[in-house]
Amino acid sequence: MKKLKIAVIGTGSISGRHIAAYLKNENVELYALCDVDGARLKAAGERWGVSRLYTNEEEMFAALPEIDAVSVCTWNGAHMPCAIGALRAGKHVLCEKPMALNAREAQQMLDTAKACNRKLMIGFVRRFGNDAQVMRDLIRDGTLGDIYYAKATYLRRNGNPGGWFGDSARSGGGPLIDLGVHVIDLTRYLMGDPKPVCVFGATFRELGDRRELKDGAAYTAASGAESDVCDVEDLAAAFIRYENGAVLSVETSFCLNLKKDVAKVELFGTRAGMCLDPELEIFSDRCGYLTDTRPARPTALDIDEAFENEIGFFVDAIVHDRDVYPIAEDGIAVMKIIDAVYLSARTGKSVEL
Ligand SMILES: NC(=O)c1ccc[n+]([C@@H]2O[C@H](COP(=O)([O-])OP(=O)(O)OC[C@H]3O[C@@H](n4cnc5c(N)ncnc54)[C@H](O)[C@@H]3O)[C@@H](O)[C@H]2O)c1
Repeated sequence: MKKLKIAVIGTGSISGRHIAAYLKNENVELYALCDVDGARLKAAGERWGVSRLYTNEEEMFAALPEIDAVSVCTWNGAHMPCAIGALRAGKHVLCEKPMALNAREAQQMLDTAKACNRKLMIGFVRRFGNDAQVMRDLIRDGTLGDIYYAKATYLRRNGNPGGWFGDSARSGGGPLIDLGVHVIDLTRYLMGDPKPVCVFGATFRELGDRRELKDGAAYTAASGAESDVCDVEDLAAAFIRYENGAVLSVETSFCLNLKKDVAKVELFGTRAGMCLDPELEIFSDRCGYLTDTRPARPTALDIDEAFENEIGFFVDAIVHDRDVYPIAEDGIAVMKIIDAVYLSARTGKSVEL
């Protein structure tokens, strides 16, 4: 069978996970790489043994019309232009989270995908995790009953990655759009992808990026830190009401005066509750006794496996001409929530969607 020719746009840290997963996939040829940073691009080409290297995606598409599909792994502000450029050039697109800087951009991406009849998948990798699979199976089997409340917590004490992550023009925001999207999407997925109808949110810029801390090792660790802007929130908290009446409470920070980083997801239903932190535990009552249970298999997230599943799904969808998933509408729903949290934080009022 003819192998899919894949290009990766943006060769920073997350591209490594996409590329490693593509290289393991027998239906794929890693064909070309693109990055606006020539030095980074060259290093990636050497690392992954790719010689077709471009600093501009339009030039790449013009030179290599045989490319079938791309992963967009750029900073957030380049997701929309790169994805739209690829779709118009006839390529299928897997776009990293968040889908775009805001819902308006995300909608333009969906409209382009429809007009060009190409697949547009959003990289909500947490849906492909071993943890999500077990939770979803238990929920579909009725273990929790009706889920009416969820909590998504992704708090870092000192975890501003620096570089573009702190620059709202390229990131669209701070921990909410960077970390919050993961757990907002994961909980929404587990709740059956309900439609958000009302949002109340608050954001704070009190601690900055904490680059002055003596213990500030986290700062700049995750990005090239080519510029040191920090105009994003360091904490965001929000309440999201869905059409079915269920509510999500979300808290996310780059910097916060708390003891220890927290990354957990909790779902509360009429029959039981569930907490992933990092292993899964289920809380209910049996024969009048409050009962805690754990699956016997490991349920903490295996991120390598999650990326392999995500990339495998994208490749299979193209090879067998099946629908992709998560769909662009899921990306747009999360962008609408993010936009509404930022708007609510600015106005002090709740936002109806
Ligand atoms: N799914 C996950 O778990 C996960 C984890 C980390 C990051 N991400 C997402 O992946 C994306 C990249 O994050 P990162 O940590 O790899 O950042 P990074 O800074 O390490 O890499 C981003 C790269 O994109 C390049 N770039 C920017 N604009 C470009 C353009 N127009 N054309 C080509 N290249 C361009 C930059 O030069 C840089 O090399 C972000 O959207 C981020 O939210 C997802």
